[in-house]
Amino acid sequence: MPDAGLAGAGGERPAARGPRGGPHFSRKFPTAHDEALGRLSELRAALRSRGLSLLLDLAAEVASSMAVEAPAPALLARRYLLVELERDTPAGVVRLILDRAQELGTQVVLAHPERCRAVRDHLRLIDGARERGALIQVVAPSLVGRWGKGASVAAWQLVQTGRADLLASDSHRGRPGSQNLSASVAQLARHVPPWRIVEMTITGPSKLVRNSAAR
Ligand SMILES: [Fe+2]
Repeated sequence: MPDAGLAGAGGERPAARGPRGGPHFSRKFPTAHDEALGRLSELRAALRSRGLSLLLDLAAEVASSMAVEAPAPALLARRYLLVELERDTPAGVVRLILDRAQELGTQVVLAHPERCRAVRDHLRLIDGARERGALIQVVAPSLVGRWGKGASVAAWQLVQTGRADLLASDSHRGRPGSQNLSASVAQLARHVPPWRIVEMTITGPSKLVRNSAAR
């Protein structure tokens, strides 16, 4: 998945089947980046030893404040900048994130905008961001209601109005986060056509992985 710290790309192999979970550049919810790098090395070695050729990379989610103030140097050369919107992220910060990304020559992926009250009140913020090239990533915990009713309603609205480009797990640690992902896909299957699910979980993420690798 695109929030996925580890996303796989190998021919037509769907990225959604690749490993999930990745670092978080956030003062509020910090993660151990060295540990993530260590696990990436272990995974690469394990796959190699089994004769599997799978391109793996480490991705991370960045808090909006850090994206605007000072993105980590390691992120600057990336094709995409995955920035999360939090409950109290002000509307003006969305524009600042897009401006910053433009300066850096990177494309923004907005993570879980459904949790952001400003976005919920003004969906045109999402339309404006998409017009500037941003991709919209809803997350499974929101769809299944783990972030409350407001986030759930907004996540479904983003999906059903065609504004959501990607579905991700929002998993940052080694704990099982895929249950939410499976449950959300099962719910999606009851409400949207299969091609939308494929778009958000396979073709969309695969495109990101391919483009990242090509950079
Ligand atoms: Fe997040």
